[in-house]
Amino acid sequence: MKRIGVLTRDCAGVNATIRAIVRTANKYDIEVVGVLRGYDGLIDDDIILLDRRSVSGIINQGGTILKTARSKRFFIEFEQKKAAKNLKENNIDGLIVIGGDGSLRGAHVLATQYNIPVIGIPATIDNDINGVDLTIGADTAVNVALDALDKIRDTATSLERIFVVEVMGRECGYIAMQVALAGGCEEVLIPEKNFDIDRMCKEIKEGNRKGKTSWIIIVAEGKAKGRDIASIITEKTNLETRVVVLGHIQRGGHPTSIDRILAARLGNYAVNMLKDGLTDHCVSIKDGKLVTILWDRTGKKYNQGKGLSVFVDGNLAAHSTILERIEGKL
Ligand code: F6P
Repeated sequence: MKRIGVLTRDCAGVNATIRAIVRTANKYDIEVVGVLRGYDGLIDDDIILLDRRSVSGIINQGGTILKTARSKRFFIEFEQKKAAKNLKENNIDGLIVIGGDGSLRGAHVLATQYNIPVIGIPATIDNDINGVDLTIGADTAVNVALDALDKIRDTATSLERIFVVEVMGRECGYIAMQVALAGGCEEVLIPEKNFDIDRMCKEIKEGNRKGKTSWIIIVAEGKAKGRDIASIITEKTNLETRVVVLGHIQRGGHPTSIDRILAARLGNYAVNMLKDGLTDHCVSIKDGKLVTILWDRTGKKYNQGKGLSVFVDGNLAAHSTILERIEGKL
C-alpha cells in the first residue's frame, strides 16, 4: 500500500483524526491525500496531498480542514462510477471515510460495488451508530451544549422563567439526555420515548403553586420543535416560556480530550487495518478495546435509545426523576 485517501464529514475531532492518519501512514512510508468537500470532491477529483506539515497545529481545531458537503450526487450510479475512477486514477490504494451514517453508507458502496478497500471511522455528534460506544464529536457536542445550558440556567433562575432548550439529534436523544442529566434539567424529550406533555404541564403548574419558579426542559430536535413545546406549556400553564435552539454550535468547538484521544486511537487503527488488507469495516472502541465492525453491523441506530444505555447501565442516580422517566419507571 503506497497511497491512501481520506474523506470526511465535519465535527469536533475530525481534524485530530486526519492528523493521526497522516502521522501513522507516514511512519509506514504511505502517502496520504485528502478528498476536499466529501463525496462531491471525490466525484470532481478535488484531491490534495496531505504531508506531515499540513496536519500540524490542527489537533485542537473543530470542523474539518478538508471541508465537506452532503452529496446528493453520490446517490447516482453514474457519479459513483466517476468517484471510483478518480480513486483509481489517483493511485489511491485505500480510502478512510470519517463521518456518520450517510458517509459510512457511501464507504460501503465504494467497497462492495467498486471494489475499493475502505475503512470507516464513525464520527458524528449524534452518537447513533450501531455497535459503537462513542462516535468522534459526540463528547465535544455534549460539553458545548452543557456550557450553553449552564449560562441559560443563570438567567432562568434570575428571571424565574421556564426555558425550553432544543438540542441536535434527529433520531437519537443522546445529546439531549446527557445534557439533561449533567445540567440538572427538569424534563427531557427524546425521539426514542413517548412523552406525556399533559403530565409535565400539570407538574409545572403544581410546582409553581408550591413556589418553584424556573424550569429547564431539553428537547431533542427529532422529537419536537422547542417553540411548539414552549407554546403548549404557556397555553396550559399560563406561565412565561423562552426558547433557545442551540443548533450548529454543537457541531463546532475545540475537541475535548476524550474526542482527541478517540481520534488518535481510531485514526491509527484505521491505517493499520487498511494496510493489513481489511475493507468494508468500521473501526471503533467497544468496552474500551479497539474493534473492527463489518459495515452491515453498523448502520444507523434507529430508536434503540443508544443514549439510554448510559442511564440504564450507569450509576448516574443524581437526578432520579429524569433517570426514572428515561428508564420508563415513571
Ligand atoms: O447528523 C449530525 C447532525 O448535526 C444532526 O444532529 C443534525 O440534525 C444534522 O446533522 C444537521 O445537518 P445539516 O448541517 O446538514 O443541517
